[in-house]
Amino acid sequence: MSINVKMQLPGLGVDSSGLGLMSVQRQGLEARHRESLARFGYSPEALFWSTRGVQKARFKALTGIGVARGDSLLDVGCGFGDLDSWLSSRKKTVQYTGIDISPDILMRAGEMMPARNLHCGELFDFQWPESSFDWVLLSGTLNWNLYDKGDYARRSIARMFELARKGVAFNLLDERYINPLYLDGLVAYDVQTMLAFCRTITTKCELVEGYLDNDFTIFMKK
Ligand SMILES: C[S@@+](CC[C@H](N)C(=O)[O-])C[C@H]1O[C@@H](n2cnc3c(N)ncnc32)[C@H](O)[C@@H]1O
Repeated sequence: MSINVKMQLPGLGVDSSGLGLMSVQRQGLEARHRESLARFGYSPEALFWSTRGVQKARFKALTGIGVARGDSLLDVGCGFGDLDSWLSSRKKTVQYTGIDISPDILMRAGEMMPARNLHCGELFDFQWPESSFDWVLLSGTLNWNLYDKGDYARRSIARMFELARKGVAFNLLDERYINPLYLDGLVAYDVQTMLAFCRTITTKCELVEGYLDNDFTIFMKK
């Protein structure tokens, strides 16, 4: 079967900005997802979601920014591309592009949906021009602790905003509701600190809470 996952395209797949993940971080993320896929197969658990319900609750909160049928959307850390399927099931088919650091997860995604537009890599591997997508969304991708005090997360959010024509929506774990002893390699954030950072990029920020116990979403509109 031919699989439409772009592993190497001209101008793609190489971080020349110096802003991307360090190779040790990248290898760690790839290994973690290779193991989880081998263990769980296509499932929310392979993406470290406890249930399909928590994944969907995040999708609902994120797309509340205003994603409409026909919009173009970049999904950063797309996993299996479940956001695309979820939107289609709600009659909001979008022009979808997904990127993911894990070649294993992405190959599986490509096997299931060969026509889906998927690229292997992280944000800084791609040299898309500014405002390339109506919306740039991210769910769960910044939950791993890179032990960099959140620098990569902030760089990613700033880059997502550059790439968006209409806006950005992303979620993070909320440190108020997570015992640090149970984070186990994950990272949680202070809501107000993250919101203050986003407001240095645009004043049009909105906080969304209450859809899950331990998660928050931020909208940044153009
Ligand atoms: C918690 S899963 C969520 C997947 C998808 N967003 C969903 O909700 O179904 C996080 C995904 O982000 C990917 N990932 C982690 N760090 C990444 C990065 N810096 N750039 C791109 N993908 C990344 C992982 O491989 C994984 O598939």
